[in-house]
Amino acid sequence: MDYEILVNKDNLLDENYVPENLVLVDGPTGKKLDDSYVNKLNLMAYKYFLLMQKDALRKGYRIYVDSSYRSYQYQKELFDDLVLKKGYDYAIKYCAVPGASEHQTGLAIDIIFKRNGIMIEQQSWRDPEIIWMINNSFKYGYILRYPLGKERITGYNFEPWHYRFCTPDLARRLYNNSETLEEYHIRKRIK
Ligand code: DAL
Ligand code: ZN
Repeated sequence: MDYEILVNKDNLLDENYVPENLVLVDGPTGKKLDDSYVNKLNLMAYKYFLLMQKDALRKGYRIYVDSSYRSYQYQKELFDDLVLKKGYDYAIKYCAVPGASEHQTGLAIDIIFKRNGIMIEQQSWRDPEIIWMINNSFKYGYILRYPLGKERITGYNFEPWHYRFCTPDLARRLYNNSETLEEYHIRKRIK
């Protein structure tokens, strides 16, 4: 697996691309469309997620994987559903068209957290769980993939819930440089 893989509006995955090494994710998940969705994640990304989840819990933050691997077809259904509910202009800022979602790599997660026994789906940068994730997830190889202020580079609005596994080495470098995966790839090409 190429843990540095860049998937975005300009770098698409094939319709038939299915990553290897997907494992089942344990725990509560948000069923977005119907009950057929099964949460699966790249094996290494999952191992690091479990470490992160354990350390978050020590701080009192209950973090879970809400959505992880999505097939091309499932992403298509999600996108079409969002267009129906909120319109195309909204959907394109928050949801990737099929082939353009890094959820198809098995390396991306949308998180959800539980507070006072309630699952919180509406998240903001003010939530202590999100603040912890933004500032600590790099230690476990994850980056906040769509940060505030980088919308024109990533192509998406701020998503406090979406994190991308790219190994602890790269995640630390990106975090320290306040760099997105797009900027990292541009820099690598120029070198
Ligand atoms: N929400 C991200 C952009 C996705 O759909 O992959
Ligand atoms: Zn996501």
